[in-house]
Amino acid sequence: MCGIVGYVGKRNSQEVLIEGLKKLEYRGYDSAGIAVFTEGGLQIRKSKGRLAILESQLQQAPLSGGIGIGHTRWATHGKPSDINSHPHTDNSQKFSVVHNGIIENYIALKEELQAQGHVFVSETDTEVISHLIASLYDGDIVKAVQQAVKRMKGAFALGVLTEYEPEKLVAVRLQSPLIIGVGEGENFIGSDIPAILEYTRNVYILNDGEMALLTKDGVELMTIEGNFISRETFHVDWDITTAEKAGFDHFMLKEIHEQPKAYRDTMSSRIDESGRKVILNEVKMTPEQIRGIRNIHIVACGTAYHAGLVGKTVIEHLARIPVETDVASEYRYRSPIITPETLVIVVSQSGETADTLAALREARRCGARVLAITNVVGSSVAREADDVIFTWAGPEIAVASTKAYTSQLIAFYLLGLYLAQTLETQEEAYIAELIAAMQQLPGKVEALLAQAETVKQVAEQVAKHDNLFFIGRGLDYAIALEGSLKLKEISYIHSEAYAAGELKHGTLALIEEGIPVIALATQPDLFEKTVSNIKEVTARGAYVIGLHTEGDNELAKTVDQTFAIPETLPLLMPALSIIPLQLLSYYASLARGNDVDKPRNLAKSVTVE
Ligand code: G6P
Repeated sequence: MCGIVGYVGKRNSQEVLIEGLKKLEYRGYDSAGIAVFTEGGLQIRKSKGRLAILESQLQQAPLSGGIGIGHTRWATHGKPSDINSHPHTDNSQKFSVVHNGIIENYIALKEELQAQGHVFVSETDTEVISHLIASLYDGDIVKAVQQAVKRMKGAFALGVLTEYEPEKLVAVRLQSPLIIGVGEGENFIGSDIPAILEYTRNVYILNDGEMALLTKDGVELMTIEGNFISRETFHVDWDITTAEKAGFDHFMLKEIHEQPKAYRDTMSSRIDESGRKVILNEVKMTPEQIRGIRNIHIVACGTAYHAGLVGKTVIEHLARIPVETDVASEYRYRSPIITPETLVIVVSQSGETADTLAALREARRCGARVLAITNVVGSSVAREADDVIFTWAGPEIAVASTKAYTSQLIAFYLLGLYLAQTLETQEEAYIAELIAAMQQLPGKVEALLAQAETVKQVAEQVAKHDNLFFIGRGLDYAIALEGSLKLKEISYIHSEAYAAGELKHGTLALIEEGIPVIALATQPDLFEKTVSNIKEVTARGAYVIGLHTEGDNELAKTVDQTFAIPETLPLLMPALSIIPLQLLSYYASLARGNDVDKPRNLAKSVTVE
């Protein structure tokens, strides 16, 4: 996730910016840069790679001045490179911008500015902002930023400097976090509290639609419409480690709570304004090529494989194309039948998993087209695939994947709908209904997260056991597999996920008095069958915790305890029902005193076969 730091005051800003960016390194980044207002005007230094590279550049040619902005970039629009790094500027080089988030309408704005003669040098959406502000400037930077922001759609946090008003730093927040640090004779901006904690503990937390004008002597808060705001500062008493986790105890919990944003970011700019159509500009396949797809192979490892299991059902249901799902370490060695009419979809959070990459290469060798779903721009998988759908979840730090997984589900929904639109396999009204329901998912995830305390109580009971089972049918089975993996990874409790109808063919022998069984029954068509399977385990003494949809009163009659998931269309249910299972694993791990973010024996990215 990108990081922003800004400074105005009595110190040399270069040092404050670099120190601040170092405190944001934990968030992950691929390039870094700063802009400082020096005696010679606004000067920018930026570079791909670690901060140390930028630091050594600054040692050779330091920047001296009391006002500046800095940025660590996690690539979204355009690969990691010197040119794509922030800060960005306009053609006059008089304006400089750092930006977190996504400008959804940047292509339209870019074309408009190009028609006015603006020349762009990077592939980023951010560069558009600096040109737009420059084009609107008539002597008042605050006004120019306000006008620019009105033209921009998306989610963003900005830091803006102009050489014309060298004592001012402007900050804006719209759905991307930004805070203002208040010092004496100096003031700061940061995308995150750790960036400024060394210098001040008094902060203003900007709300959506708010901005600030900072000089060394003061901070003015206002709305983007220009109405002034009066607010008390917030005193931060967190230490640096707590601040890195935004006040959460672990990265995993923070990432679980970031899912509403990850859903929105992954969907944003991929649904057209009418809300009836999916736009996947990154997928370059022509309608003719899409019509030529005979079968699809989804290949991935671990949690990404589980996303693929949901993806199989989604694509088969929506696009009516046969799909096989394989774990990447098996795929290559089973001589899969890959033809030029096969579309191979590889799914990888990191984009670097060795087995997934090897499967991608094998698929391409056999002449198949490869589409990647990944979270990392510039990763090997992203570079080698023919088409890429990026999951805009931001960097994931906890080893157990949560927000990357659910963003992969969103990517599959978008892809399934896109294929269905092109192939005309579904009614337009049904596509629109699904899109509308998808747009409601983030709010429903928030409602589920608000019930964390209930899940915690269940988890504390579960944590006392050494064995447990997850059961479900259809999409509920795919979620049972992921719920079980999550629990194993971080709580070290032995758990197995079974297709509910399969239990009686062997595993039922393991059910004994008091063993916990987590039963998912969220799919209306399979509900009665699942209830019959639940009865098989309750009859043998299992303690069953049932997940059902709100409004269902039936499941409670069969199970010991229920947990309700907000209603949505059955196809979309996995994007909700996994949330309590992630929380369950988290709290079970905590109850067992484990290292939640770094479970034993596991690595975040597995780059060996
Ligand atoms: C490792 C991680 C898992 C992840 C898997 C695939 O095993 O611990 O959380 O699901 O790799 O990683 P990828 O980056 O390809 O999604």
